[in-house]
Amino acid sequence: MSKAFTTAFLFAAFLVSTHIKAQKLSDKYRPQFHFSPKANWMNDPNGMVFHNGIYHLFYQYYPNDKIWGPMHWGHATSKDLVSWQEQPIALYPDSLGYIFSGSAVVDAKNTSGFGKDGKAPLVAIFTHHDPVLEKQKTGKHETQSIAYSLDDGKNWTKYSGNPVIPNPGITDFRDPKVSWYEPQKKWMMTLATKDRITFYSSPNLKDWTRESEFGVDAGSHGGVWECPDLFPIMHNGKEVWVLIVNINPGGPNKGSAGQYFLGDFDGKDFKAYSKETKWLDFGADNYAAVTFSNTGNRRVLMGWMSNWQYANQVPTDPWRSANTVARDLGLKSVGREIYLTSLPVKELNALNTTGFSQKNVNVKGELDLTGKTKNTTGLFRLDFDTKSVGDFSITLANKAGNEMVIGYDKASNQYYTDRSKSGKIDFEKGFGVKHSAPRFSKDAYMDITLIADVASIELFADHGLTIMTDIFFPDEPMSQLTIKSVSGITLDNLKYTGLKPSMGQK
Ligand code: FRU
Repeated sequence: MSKAFTTAFLFAAFLVSTHIKAQKLSDKYRPQFHFSPKANWMNDPNGMVFHNGIYHLFYQYYPNDKIWGPMHWGHATSKDLVSWQEQPIALYPDSLGYIFSGSAVVDAKNTSGFGKDGKAPLVAIFTHHDPVLEKQKTGKHETQSIAYSLDDGKNWTKYSGNPVIPNPGITDFRDPKVSWYEPQKKWMMTLATKDRITFYSSPNLKDWTRESEFGVDAGSHGGVWECPDLFPIMHNGKEVWVLIVNINPGGPNKGSAGQYFLGDFDGKDFKAYSKETKWLDFGADNYAAVTFSNTGNRRVLMGWMSNWQYANQVPTDPWRSANTVARDLGLKSVGREIYLTSLPVKELNALNTTGFSQKNVNVKGELDLTGKTKNTTGLFRLDFDTKSVGDFSITLANKAGNEMVIGYDKASNQYYTDRSKSGKIDFEKGFGVKHSAPRFSKDAYMDITLIADVASIELFADHGLTIMTDIFFPDEPMSQLTIKSVSGITLDNLKYTGLKPSMGQK
């Protein structure tokens, strides 16, 4: 090797190594413990998988601008689901098109034959979206493809036989979520196909057979079906299958949202207990949420904390979008209905700093907690429970007069969030509004967990039965916290915990 060449090579290697990025926490609106890319555009979480002690998050990424563009798979890793490190881009667009959403699996039995020297490959299954074919309006521009990595997701080789599922003539044909179906020792693919889900199976991730479809006559159809997921959860000794179907638009509070169905699955057909939609989250900002692969019986969900209604306009710079916190899923019966529950993962407790707790707190009118929180950055977790189930509102505010309100209205039995005075709202006309959500629990007892970052709140009510995730953009950090109740309410256990940042550089 010539000296000049060696120098050039070392410089290139240096550029690659410095490509590993960290977010600048001082950026205005920069989430402090939610993943956001250092710069440019992000949407759906992709290929979330646990492998060799590391959680991998891939995501829809456009590295050249803050708006949606030719899609790549960005990559971030975490040891604990809480602190994420951005890594070099994993998948680049190619002659078959952009790299749209999909999933990743650990092919432990090396069914694909991609493994080497006893090393199990990570296999990514994704949609190729061909922009040239799209313009020709053949309706055949989306196909399913695969790629594999033998070095923990750093380098990927695309399969030479791509696409593994050609398009049968369905315009929206995308977002494959693959999992291993142990009873029949085969891979199952859950694919969003316009207004329904189509299931495919495969012995080796390369050859796929169409099995069945679900949903043309079920659920919500206010928009196109996207980003599905299928997995079982044990409930009272019985296996219940959960089918998540994201939909855009048509959400309960406008725009993008996640619906789900519960039912049986036999390796071929999904049979829903009911054709009615249930919603995963009633906030406006939890889209494309799906679960991690390879986490055993644990089901960990993470979503894109934005909404196609305004995702390209939100006033952040130099990046756009963040993810929700990771959430543990479960099932809970209310009367004869079963619902999916979501709760923040326990790992989040590692961020707890100082706080306070108090028992039997009566709130009639207003309780100002600002003096006690000692937290001017607006990062906290608030937990309380009450046997009195009366109306309440929690207000995050600042000296600029911005307010983000989260509450419960007893008369309508609804939770709500109100971001109409939350700061910058004028980038899209539907942003600054109130959202509401039913209270499903019939208990004469209520428990609330609220998690706040610089630019988001996540409400987990009734042990995860009702969820609301909303982003907001205050003119300055939210530094004040009050709880109000007109009817009066007694908080049996009130706990405030400050949270510390888990991302990037100071
Ligand atoms: C969902 C979605 C997917 C698609 C991707 C493109 O937000 O529209 O259906 O694969 O985004 O970025």
